Amino acid sequence: MKLKVLFTTLLAFMAVGHLHAQYNPLWIPDTMVGTTFNLTMRDTFRQILTGNQTITGGINGNFWGPTMIWNKGDVITVNVNNQITDTTTIHWHGMHLPAIMDGGPHQPIPPFTTWSPYWKVDNNAALYWYHPHLHMMAEEQLSMGLGGMIIVRDPIESALALPRTYGVDDIPLALTDRKFDALNQFITSHYGDSMMTNGVVRAEHTIPAQVVRLRLLDAAMERSYNIGFSDGRTFYVITTDGGLVNAPVPVTRFLLSAGERVEILVNCTGQSGTTVDLRAYNSELTPQVPGGESFPGGPFANALGHANFNILHLNIGAATASPITTIPATLTTNTFYPESSAVVTRTVTISDSTVGPGGPTFLINHKLFEMDHIDYHVPLDNTEIWEIKSTSGFGHPFHIHDVEFHILTINGAAPPAHQDGWKDVVFIPANQTVRFIAKFNDYSDSLKPYMFHCHIALHEDLGMMGQFVVGNSPTGIMNRVLNNKMKLYPNPTKGLLYFEMQDNITITHATVINVHGQVVKEFELNNQKSELDVSMLNKGLYFLRLTDAVSGSYIKSYLME
Ligand code: C2O
Ligand code: CU
Ligand code: CU
Repeated sequence: MKLKVLFTTLLAFMAVGHLHAQYNPLWIPDTMVGTTFNLTMRDTFRQILTGNQTITGGINGNFWGPTMIWNKGDVITVNVNNQITDTTTIHWHGMHLPAIMDGGPHQPIPPFTTWSPYWKVDNNAALYWYHPHLHMMAEEQLSMGLGGMIIVRDPIESALALPRTYGVDDIPLALTDRKFDALNQFITSHYGDSMMTNGVVRAEHTIPAQVVRLRLLDAAMERSYNIGFSDGRTFYVITTDGGLVNAPVPVTRFLLSAGERVEILVNCTGQSGTTVDLRAYNSELTPQVPGGESFPGGPFANALGHANFNILHLNIGAATASPITTIPATLTTNTFYPESSAVVTRTVTISDSTVGPGGPTFLINHKLFEMDHIDYHVPLDNTEIWEIKSTSGFGHPFHIHDVEFHILTINGAAPPAHQDGWKDVVFIPANQTVRFIAKFNDYSDSLKPYMFHCHIALHEDLGMMGQFVVGNSPTGIMNRVLNNKMKLYPNPTKGLLYFEMQDNITITHATVINVHGQVVKEFELNNQKSELDVSMLNKGLYFLRLTDAVSGSYIKSYLME
């Protein structure tokens, strides 16, 4: 009898011990400063779980890339070198910059090439980020762990008494979640079972007993995080996506959606020796909010759905020398565009569809994304109201490239103070309408579009995206170089290439072009898919151009080994 009790107690103890497994130290990404930045994307690995290491995407040798620190007004160049043996892009989320530098689906970086965009940093001080944006590949490439954070500094923010020592009292936190297979490798999925903070599961960090700034980014595929602290304490929102709010906003919860950022201040003055957890209170979310659903089975099932869970265990240690100990009363004076300055209101609809590529999906303006279709022509310098009108039964984080906007109304009401700032992602609750105002100044280019889309990677990949050009000149046929309808494999190849077209496109002609633009091989065909023998060509990078009967052309690069 005694033995049995002991045995059950032991089992119970082991179970608890397993649930409350050891915390792991938070990883803080390196910083890069200056005006020229070199990023190399290459697979790497990290000890995330016990046992096997996990193979991940990597930038400059780490799962999740370095934090780049940019100064407003600097002209910067980023050399992005792709060594991942797949085409990708890198998008500068939140940046106001020329469309050709934006890194959206129209700026692919073929394997083993370098893309070097440059522009003058024009954004306000805040947290931004960079991530892959290849059409239909966002979820897969984000899941690998490609991406990183950007901190922009400017004179207004620098003049404030705010915590600013990176990793000490100013801590960047990229939030995501992953599913692992039995060998500890990532499974691409919409929701993971394990919370990951800066790529670490069950993360803990020691912060000083003073005012600490946490810069939060929702880098998840789909999940929103309903942020709060385990002791219910008040924290202070100091930024929205694109800059400071006028004054810190005290809150006890903040709903952070995919792609969105917020910087908060937490006052830990005098609390040395205590601990507190930064948590997601997702059991408080309705099933219409990503992360508020609990799916018993199927592709969306996950351990964190509609649950509360830790994001970061915080140990409060000694204060630093000259700590910040008070929350500032004011931060800045934002001047938003008056509603009367808008010259047009564009109604953008979001709706559910029972049909889509691979099942039910969500539509913008009742259609799926097309690489060669421009949804809006925005005249240069236009101030516009965008009215995002959702009849969808699910909420969607809506993101627009190029500009930071100001929310006018959410379902008819003025935005709450913690959303009353410059934004580039706004959560559109199910069946509600959100109106925002933005000005499309600079960078006229009638050929290169900017994207707007749902930031849930799956929805975006399935076509919940549109595009606009900014400019006064008439737009011709934008671009007959479409590659989303074309599959090409294997890449790299040793001599045989297979292509496959969607939509019953029949290819009549295939041309292999070398890096100097010379035609090195041609094939006459009449197929939707075919095998091409290119084994007679030397090693190196080539482009395969396929032409259909109506003179559409499709191009992809490949590497010959
Ligand atoms: Cu963060 Cu179009 O993306
Ligand atoms: Cu973006
Ligand atoms: Cu969506």
